[in-house]
Amino acid sequence: MRLDPHSYADGDQARTRSVDLSLHVDFDQRVIDGEIALHFAQPAAGNLDLDTRDLAIAHVASLDGAPLHWELAPSEPILGARLRVALPPQAQGVTIRYRTAPQATALQWLAPSQTQGGEPFLYSQAQPIHARSMAPLQDTPAIRVTVGQARFTVPARLRTLMAAAALAREPRGEAATDVFEMPQPIPPYLLAFAVGDLARRELSPRCAVWAEPALVDAAAYEFAAVEQMLQAAEELFGPYEWDRYDILVMPPSFPYGGMENPRLTFVTPSIVAGDRSLVNVIAHELAHAWTGNLVTNANANHFWLNEGFTVYAERRILEALEGSDRAGIYAASGLHDLETALARFAARPELTRLRNDLAGVDPDEAYSTVPYEKGYLLLRRLEDVAGRPAWDEFLRAYLSAFRFQSIDTQQFLDFLEAHLPGVAARAGALEYIDGPFLPASAPRPKSARLEQLRAGEREPEDPNELLVVLQSAPADPERLRELDARWGLSGRRSLELRHTFVLAQLRAGMAEALEAARRVLLETGRMRYLRPLYTELAQRHPVAARRIYEEARAGYHNIARSVVEGVLKDAPARR
Ligand code: BES
Ligand code: ZN
Repeated sequence: MRLDPHSYADGDQARTRSVDLSLHVDFDQRVIDGEIALHFAQPAAGNLDLDTRDLAIAHVASLDGAPLHWELAPSEPILGARLRVALPPQAQGVTIRYRTAPQATALQWLAPSQTQGGEPFLYSQAQPIHARSMAPLQDTPAIRVTVGQARFTVPARLRTLMAAAALAREPRGEAATDVFEMPQPIPPYLLAFAVGDLARRELSPRCAVWAEPALVDAAAYEFAAVEQMLQAAEELFGPYEWDRYDILVMPPSFPYGGMENPRLTFVTPSIVAGDRSLVNVIAHELAHAWTGNLVTNANANHFWLNEGFTVYAERRILEALEGSDRAGIYAASGLHDLETALARFAARPELTRLRNDLAGVDPDEAYSTVPYEKGYLLLRRLEDVAGRPAWDEFLRAYLSAFRFQSIDTQQFLDFLEAHLPGVAARAGALEYIDGPFLPASAPRPKSARLEQLRAGEREPEDPNELLVVLQSAPADPERLRELDARWGLSGRRSLELRHTFVLAQLRAGMAEALEAARRVLLETGRMRYLRPLYTELAQRHPVAARRIYEEARAGYHNIARSVVEGVLKDAPARR
């Protein structure tokens, strides 16, 4: 029985409980040579089906070294290639020697010219189904694993950081081996590491920030309040279960705002804005330590359980730190993003449900803000119906009942019904879960502040308020020039502001927008900025859009490249 539409893992076969990794990182060839050991929860026999993508398999053996028969099936476009191993009776596990491909979808290899300090850099991004391009395994969140030991051999002048506990660094001449363990069980999409020239600044006894040396002080300033945030989150959701909370600032090509890798959140450098205005990304990734890393979705059909809960938790943290009036702005911006996304899916309503059937659909292609913001609104609605005290009690009970598990929407609904009988029905929860678009009962996040900002009755007091003003600015060159003169928008470091401003300029048909867009697109590989900018450019200036992409492409992650190429493919040939 298949457990997950995006994995060959079979629920009737052996289940991995723990893995060991021993990897040699070769920057010249852009490959990792390695060995993985899979240790089973129970002794097993028969076939074992594993996920792989673009892996060269060299040798498969049982844990005592006896070679095993194996077969690699032809590769499927979304799933990759099934590796079937024939287990002997009473097998406790297997070891596999393999090699990754230079185009491994989880890995981005950066040339020295693509980093601040001129050293090479490598990082992994496994969510949702790319772990299989780093190692053969059961690549489904339904099967959580611990990491007994992970060893990375890298050039001695670089270091490895893994989203795990660091155990040792063993020098070996020109190279060094960094050793880690992960005692808490994690879904494979949270396996993550980076190799580069990285420096560290302490933020508190359990928090630190890592970045290339040229950026680390700015990063330490930006994230100075992370311990406070961690304490606010513990107050809301219970003790932090992962020991350390560190942050790694990635190179600009990192395709996401942040990734909640356990113990070591990866973030885009674009949130180091110099004014601490984008720390909501940290609140979000930190919140995943509970909603996601502790309780995650069993497969991509239930992704909203992960991201919707996390947006909800993120906003509770921000509310605790900044007060509800100020924090209300985030929910309102979120609704704005959701409305844009729902409009984009007008012709594919099935992609706007919270519970999905994504068999045959690439989860990277189905990715959108819908599970985030519609999921958030469902949870807000449930909170409104239950009342905050009862809802908060429910949340804590939910997190502790399912800790270190991977669940589906039905399990959530059953638990909700058992603890808060009738609330789901009164909230109309199934309309959100199985229905398209946004039910009429959805809360409309509003804040008095926000209304005043939009109406121009109040001057923005911080960058987030300024963003709201920009999002609702008319496509009027005159007004945009005024805003620019008043707020120095075109000279801002914050890409959050700058990309929003450039979008408005493009829509207003302003000549200077093209060059401004080009600068944003060369500065970042974050998809949140690439998608809307290329979409707008492709409609208005398709030739320029393609020219800018040619120039910027080398600085983008594979996933970002496919997103942009998808956008450009639909653009008119010339204009
Ligand atoms: N886990 C996601 C990023 C992700 C999702 C990567 C799906 C790959 C597949 C992360 O927690 C996230 O949601 N990041 C957001 C930040 C935000 C909502 C504040 C992002 O990158 O924009
Ligand atoms: Zn998230």
